[in-house]
Amino acid sequence: MDFRFAVAENAEHLAPLNAQLIRDEGHRNAMTVEQLVEKRMSGNVTIRRVGADEATACVQPLSDILIDCVEGGASVSFMLPISRESAVMFWRKVADSVALGERVLLIAEDSSGRIVGTVQLITAQPENQPHRADIAKMLVHRKARKTGVGQRLMAEVERVALEENKHVLVLDTVTGGDAERLYQRAGWQRVGTVPNYALMPDGELCGTTFYSKQV
Ligand SMILES: CC(C)(COP(=O)(O)OP(=O)(O)OC[C@H]1O[C@@H](n2cnc3c(N)ncnc32)[C@H](O)[C@@H]1OP(=O)(O)O)[C@@H](O)C(=O)NCCC(=O)NCCS
Repeated sequence: MDFRFAVAENAEHLAPLNAQLIRDEGHRNAMTVEQLVEKRMSGNVTIRRVGADEATACVQPLSDILIDCVEGGASVSFMLPISRESAVMFWRKVADSVALGERVLLIAEDSSGRIVGTVQLITAQPENQPHRADIAKMLVHRKARKTGVGQRLMAEVERVALEENKHVLVLDTVTGGDAERLYQRAGWQRVGTVPNYALMPDGELCGTTFYSKQV
């Protein structure tokens, strides 16, 4: 088995190995057996597009994910401490925007129907850019990361972009963050970096790197 590309089915082999690592090295190994089991469960994830009504109904679980990401240090528009009220307000506006046909909202659900990730395609653009869209708020709950949810969300949002006749896609992300590797693996072109563009949730300045992809 190639551990770099292990899949959910490998979890039962990885769990005893992980237990051995914990016995040998204490907790230098970041994942516990319980976390491995959790990951194994979240391996069975489905990605789907939700309409405005369902987006409104999902405001609380989507807020859970946003709060988890910001508390985990992700620079995604919000500062610490992030209040549930501001997270809920954000997702209500997203639901309103879905209702207006300005954006597409995708969610990733595990086998028990729990939302573990999300991404948006912002389709409303100036009239001279009808073929362009922005990708925004790619968020995966920390408990569901590194199982391919981000990669699958990206593949699906690109597929939906094509469906929507959007052939030029743009996104930006914190320079040096985990998401950069995801986008590069998915074939996105690095356009450039603006130093000191935004703040990390703790107030530290960070650069932003812009990516584009022709689909
Ligand atoms: C960036 C983010 C969306 C990635 O989500 P994710 O679901 O962990 O993404 P993936 O699982 O597809 O890939 C992550 C890593 O897991 C690895 N991986 C994927 N499936 C795996 C598996 N079955 N076994 C082991 N590793 C796996 C990938 O190779 C990748 O490796 P890398 O860290 O070396 O790049 C997530 O970290 C996140 O939500 N971050 C906070 C919010 C954020 O910054 N969003 C971007 C805004 S622009």
